[in-house]
Amino acid sequence: MSNALFRTKNVEQSILDTEEPEHSLKKSLTALDLTVFGVGVIIGTGIFVLTGTAAKNTAGPAVSLSFVVAGVVCALAALCYAEFASTVPVAGSAYTFSYASLGELPAWIIGWDLVLELALGTAVVAVGWSGYIHSLLDNAGWSLPEALSGRDGATGFGFDILASALVLVLTAILVVGMKLSARVTSVVVAIKVAVVLVVIIAGAFFVHGGNYKPFIPKAQAAEAGGNLKAPLIQLMFGWAPSDFGVMGIFTAASVVFFAFIGFDVVATAAEETRNPQRDVPRGILGSLIICTTLYVAVSIVVTGMQKYSALSIEAPLADAFKATGHPWYAGLISFGAAIGLTTVCMILLLGQSRVFFAMSRDGLLPRFFSHTHPRFRTPYRSTILLGVIIAIVAGFTSLSELAELVNIGTLFAFIVVALSVIILRRRRPDLHRAFRTPWVPFVPILSACASLWLMLNLPAETWLRFAVWMVVGFFVYFFYGRSHSRLGRHEETTVDEVTHPPHGTAQ
Ligand code: ALA
Repeated sequence: MSNALFRTKNVEQSILDTEEPEHSLKKSLTALDLTVFGVGVIIGTGIFVLTGTAAKNTAGPAVSLSFVVAGVVCALAALCYAEFASTVPVAGSAYTFSYASLGELPAWIIGWDLVLELALGTAVVAVGWSGYIHSLLDNAGWSLPEALSGRDGATGFGFDILASALVLVLTAILVVGMKLSARVTSVVVAIKVAVVLVVIIAGAFFVHGGNYKPFIPKAQAAEAGGNLKAPLIQLMFGWAPSDFGVMGIFTAASVVFFAFIGFDVVATAAEETRNPQRDVPRGILGSLIICTTLYVAVSIVVTGMQKYSALSIEAPLADAFKATGHPWYAGLISFGAAIGLTTVCMILLLGQSRVFFAMSRDGLLPRFFSHTHPRFRTPYRSTILLGVIIAIVAGFTSLSELAELVNIGTLFAFIVVALSVIILRRRRPDLHRAFRTPWVPFVPILSACASLWLMLNLPAETWLRFAVWMVVGFFVYFFYGRSHSRLGRHEETTVDEVTHPPHGTAQ
């Protein structure tokens, strides 16, 4: 039994599976496409919305240090992701990597976890997008009925019709094909980056040095909300829950971490890349470096423009310009943010449909979902199923707690990937690695510890929700995935023919 749970999928077999005509994806992406994809998904609700929340509630102007902390955690994880993506260039990201190294059960856990991360991430961003559209509509003097404006602030029934509609339209675009969506993405990414540069360059002229004092506000007792709202680390050590101070920088880092989510999604498109060995590491690291630089600059400028305690929670970048008497810039930024969030949503949606697709191709979820479209060659069934579910979730949920749940899931995936690098180096030293993580095992171990540290800075209730999702996942695996696994069935038919199973399986 334990052998079955930890059976690994041979790396060569993973690559071979992608070549079955009915289950294969078109290879058309380049390093530039991937970097654009990366930047397209990384810059989003995190910098446009969460910067304000984190500065105002937990870190003050030191939120720029929180971005540095989160950026370092992601850079370490990126070094591990890049090695895996360049060794196992098939759809599915951390799921596929762990199937090849840790075994079927850990792979299931990570795949299940990734579906949560990416699906809820899509919903979070769709809701953020709809907020910006509402604010633009308000400027023009229009507004939607309250019942169709979403959960936040709704007294009775509240459905976010805009968020839901966005998810459905993007689902249709993804079904029609990668190339179209990549082209649309490039234009939108250019607009988004231009808007971020406007914030940095124009905003620099409106900075007042006094706003940086104190740079790290003194720690203060957290507002009431029950112990479950406190970071787990504070409860573990019996500290009185507090905001700000040095610990506040880490609490904020665990929240603004959301701003970096997406570089790992680049790895999920490895199978659709022309030269994955070379281009995937380039795409991942390139997009991460660009975004980290922009984030630190934006957060320094914005907390210099307006006192941290006065920053707005809904649209901090635009409102900082309003506060300094420049509403024209504010309108431009809101417009750019609304456009930019569209690509974030689309790429998260793409990533999660690909993870689901890979799990279904392996038989851990029904194989029905892994048939590609005869004409578009896209995994249309999984894309449509998940698109519809996310459209419903986006319509009925509010934003902040979901973002924390997304973060914990992603950080957990980072830990698994880091450990997998070490394990795969031992088990398969012979594999060709176009990109090698430096200083193994030191960097992967540091990466796992850094991710765990950020996880511990998330609220206890986020840990509870995450645990519930994972327990449900165990049930699905034990009652469906384990018995339908293609790898498991393959082993059953070959076990009579050979004394030892093929190299790389049933370890
Ligand atoms: N990093 C993406 C965002 O900030 C998910 O919206």
